[in-house]
Amino acid sequence: GAPVEVNISKLEPGQLLRVEWRGKPVWIVRRTPEVLDGLTKLAEQLRDPDSVEPQQPEYAQNAFRSIKDEYFVAVGLCTHLGCSPTYMPDTFSQQVEGVASGFFCPCHGSKFDLAGRVFQGVPAPLNLVIPPHSYVNENTILIG
Ligand code: FES
Repeated sequence: GAPVEVNISKLEPGQLLRVEWRGKPVWIVRRTPEVLDGLTKLAEQLRDPDSVEPQQPEYAQNAFRSIKDEYFVAVGLCTHLGCSPTYMPDTFSQQVEGVASGFFCPCHGSKFDLAGRVFQGVPAPLNLVIPPHSYVNENTILIG
């Protein structure tokens, strides 16, 4: 499959943009400073908080699993059986108390934070996959 160019100039803080790459949904989320701050406090609730498993390119093996803190790029498929989780920008605390935003998989209830890291006690074994990607310029991400 060919790489996909995505224009992120109109993406507002908190918004999710969905594109398709190699027949898979890929998400780009613009994370707010509050979300980024929250992500630093979840380690004890996560299965692989430090992204030890090879679910991301090396350049995204960091605290926010991204190249730029603000922009999160991930393959939007649950690592359990491949359903596409639902983005919950402000109702996720119904799923994980005290956590405002995240991804919830409707198929068997797996939960992921806004860095795609899986919470403990759910069927999904691994963090969401981060696809290979790069910045062509400030407003353009190349997926693949
Ligand atoms: Fe997501 Fe089973 S496919 S929890």
